[in-house]
Amino acid sequence: MKFIQFKRRSTFAMLATLTMLACASIGSRAEEPIKIGLLLPNTGPFSYMGRQINAGVQLYLAEHGAAVAGRKLEVIIKDDEGKPENNKRLAQELVIADKVTVLAGFGLTPQAFATAPLATQSKTPMVVMQAATSSVTERSPFIVRTSMTLPQVTFGVADWALKNKISRVVTLVSDYAPGVDAEKTFIGRFTAGGGQIVEQLRMPVVNADFAPFLQRVLDAKPQAVFVFVPAGSSAAMFMKQFAERGMKKAGIQVIGPGDVVDDDVLGEMGDEALGAITSHHYSAAHPSAMNKKFVAAIGKANNGMRPSFMAVAGYDGMHVIMQALKVTNGAGGEALVNAMRGQSFESPRGPVLIDPLTRDIVQDVYIRKVQRVNGKLYNVEFDVIKAVKDPDKSK
Ligand code: PHB
Repeated sequence: MKFIQFKRRSTFAMLATLTMLACASIGSRAEEPIKIGLLLPNTGPFSYMGRQINAGVQLYLAEHGAAVAGRKLEVIIKDDEGKPENNKRLAQELVIADKVTVLAGFGLTPQAFATAPLATQSKTPMVVMQAATSSVTERSPFIVRTSMTLPQVTFGVADWALKNKISRVVTLVSDYAPGVDAEKTFIGRFTAGGGQIVEQLRMPVVNADFAPFLQRVLDAKPQAVFVFVPAGSSAAMFMKQFAERGMKKAGIQVIGPGDVVDDDVLGEMGDEALGAITSHHYSAAHPSAMNKKFVAAIGKANNGMRPSFMAVAGYDGMHVIMQALKVTNGAGGEALVNAMRGQSFESPRGPVLIDPLTRDIVQDVYIRKVQRVNGKLYNVEFDVIKAVKDPDKSK
């Protein structure tokens, strides 16, 4: 009898302990933050990407609060130094050790390519806030993109050139996937409309000396040079050397997607950039009320920094993640990707949509000219192509 009583008591005690443990674990689950792994080039030649994207992410959190679905949101930032192998290793750590719900960031296309298989294997949504080669989103069904694709933002300037009686163009692009995307799109559209490509040149991705390439452009005597270089410091160097080589004096018009006159460095450029015509999805001079507020807030929080299209993609990327987490009540995986599909909202760049089928962004693309406004250079928008899908996927 005594024994039975003891057993009952111990069973009761055990049940009570188990119940307490279960409650504690449910409690601690509810307390656990939702983690987002933000992979960025914060050092190395592409560090401006990290600075811009992170400024957009942090502004979104400051404005909307770092909490969702009753849980705190924790953003874990890792510096991949712009190297694909680092990106993959750090993403593995974030998924396995930190158990992040979302991977985000991805400055350069090779980094997004390197990590895409991990997103698929681990079923982790991967929000690409920058890398812009068209095929990035096809590397994993878990990828959603909030930046742009090179074909999407390039064909507009080919149409502009044709309309403006430019018939002889040299193309000059960085020799890697986004440059090849831009080159292919421009040449296809421009030659279909009757334009002639007099020379097709490619340069190394990390390049400080543009002189040999610029000399070949000069010798070919085109009306315009179509340029793609990764936005930021190499774009600034390119524009400076373009002027020094007398290309502007020779009357050669700079055209391209907007990366070569990126807002991050445009404010510091001299007259050499004046008159460049580009097609792109964001300008700090975009005249909407939302953008004016965005530009002021980024500047205030970052020592006067002017936001570029990268800060906007970071800001919008956080919006897409937060809205989706609300829908799934904090759950990740396929449900979270599905909650990102079809989101449409106003961005500082204008209206955007996450294409439910391709998971890529649909957005307005503007034709702009570099002009001086209140003493500083800006890409002033003068025409728009509405709701542009990535042409490489909408065929
Ligand atoms: C890319 O690597 O995908 C990339 C980098 C810089 C740009 C655009 C695309 O300005």
